[in-house]
Amino acid sequence: MMYLKPNVVFEPLFDRWYAWSHLISPATAALNIVDRHLTIMGSYVAAPEMHAQAVLNPKMKGGPFMDLNGDRREEVKGLIESTLRNQHRSIQLAKAIKELDKLLTAEANGFGMENIYRKIPDILKGYVELYYDRNNNAGFRFFESLLYKSEFSNPSSQSMAFWITNNDHRPFCLSTPRLDSPDVLHLEIPFSHSGIDELAKMKRTPKPLSYIKSILGLNASSSEALFESFFTETSPPAYDKYTGDKIRMRYFGHACILVETKDVSILVDPLISYYGYHSDIEHFSDFDLPDVIDYVLITHNHQDHILFETLLQLRHRIKNIIVPRTSSGKLEDPDLKLMFNSIGFNNVIAIDEMSTINFEDVNITGLPFTGEHSDLNILTKSCYLVKVGEFKLLFLADSRIVEPMLYQHIYNQIGSVDVLFLGMECDGAPLSWLYGPLMPKKLSREQDGSRRLSGSDCEKGMALVDIFKPKEVYVYAMGMEPWLEFISSIKYTDQSNPIVQSNKLIETCRSQGMVAERLFGEKELLYERSVSLV
Ligand SMILES: [Fe+2]
Repeated sequence: MMYLKPNVVFEPLFDRWYAWSHLISPATAALNIVDRHLTIMGSYVAAPEMHAQAVLNPKMKGGPFMDLNGDRREEVKGLIESTLRNQHRSIQLAKAIKELDKLLTAEANGFGMENIYRKIPDILKGYVELYYDRNNNAGFRFFESLLYKSEFSNPSSQSMAFWITNNDHRPFCLSTPRLDSPDVLHLEIPFSHSGIDELAKMKRTPKPLSYIKSILGLNASSSEALFESFFTETSPPAYDKYTGDKIRMRYFGHACILVETKDVSILVDPLISYYGYHSDIEHFSDFDLPDVIDYVLITHNHQDHILFETLLQLRHRIKNIIVPRTSSGKLEDPDLKLMFNSIGFNNVIAIDEMSTINFEDVNITGLPFTGEHSDLNILTKSCYLVKVGEFKLLFLADSRIVEPMLYQHIYNQIGSVDVLFLGMECDGAPLSWLYGPLMPKKLSREQDGSRRLSGSDCEKGMALVDIFKPKEVYVYAMGMEPWLEFISSIKYTDQSNPIVQSNKLIETCRSQGMVAERLFGEKELLYERSVSLV
């Protein structure tokens, strides 16, 4: 009877690239294959030494450069070839989407659109509806649920890499694919595979190796010895279930917060560190999570808030996932419920703005989220009010207030809150960093720079504090913990604007009598259900 070691990494891959939600939704995946993966790989093959130089330069952090040790040109060429071969239909789909954009620009000039349907590229026929907005600008929406049933939904491109980690270092995951390495076990299984759940369960419940090997199809393969090194007879520390009468809040790093009472558990934006190796920073890990998580709340569709790596390991413990609702069919706004369903999460609830889910003595309300989305028409974003008894916690994620009256209207409905969590990554990347592959026309440098993925600065943050009048303010979601640097590509100094701005906000809040702090590493707080007590 063996346990899985707590420092075995579960890395979900798509065509050997770090998997995130835009690689699952079929249309966004097609465009990312062409305009992210193939572009970066082509650039690497042409000039590997330029990539090696760029990754050494801190100013280039998060840029489109591969962080590979030594010259791996031949393997990258091989990956380009297999991508072109395996994804040839998705590559054609990407081309057709671009053609359709051009067709609409050229021919949709305010007159009836029926004639244009005939000219839609064949591969897209039946998957799109054309429309005008009220200003006669033409656009199209996907019948996304049909795309998931089509040849463009490609679970066979998904796979899992497993290895033992002894530190938090990993190359920036959006720019570097995972090539073969002797210490990495690579399994060609889709994310919906039940073997992932069975393996994750073995962190707490021991099973015979023969059991998990047969589920994962790992019999008599050359990887058996490596696989066996992932297990131990040593039992993990037992989970210390909260049994008191209060509300316990635990910060796990970035935007991941667990709210527990003795009866319920709610986990926001799960991103959990591994355990079992030295770290200078005290932090919670998998062993501090309950056996059952009643509700996972997802705030928005950015890769640091929907981390498959954590979610797949927790899937067997999650009763319900709440995601912001969209069914717009817009390329830039894929449906998260469909996306999660397709990778083996069957318990997904799409929540609307100002609608509430009630259970036990808890109410979870979805609230409007503005900012941090480059002024694109994206609906898959939600702030959450979590009310336990009379105690109110407000999770604002990376909101950036653009119109105070919106929040005033929300305040009129929900009243003041006890605790407010706010992301202040106020120097976010430009639009093209995340959404570039989806844009039919390149934005000018100035346009791109003016449409950033930025959270609140001090002024914007204080505007929210002034409206919601919390007793406690916590700055979070700063991407600072070392175990998530591979996904955030953030390394601040004391002079970095987000640090300066959040320090200023914290000082201002404290001077007004509030408790205020920027969270880092770990934090535990206990609250009475009616009156706060830190
Ligand atoms: Fe974000």
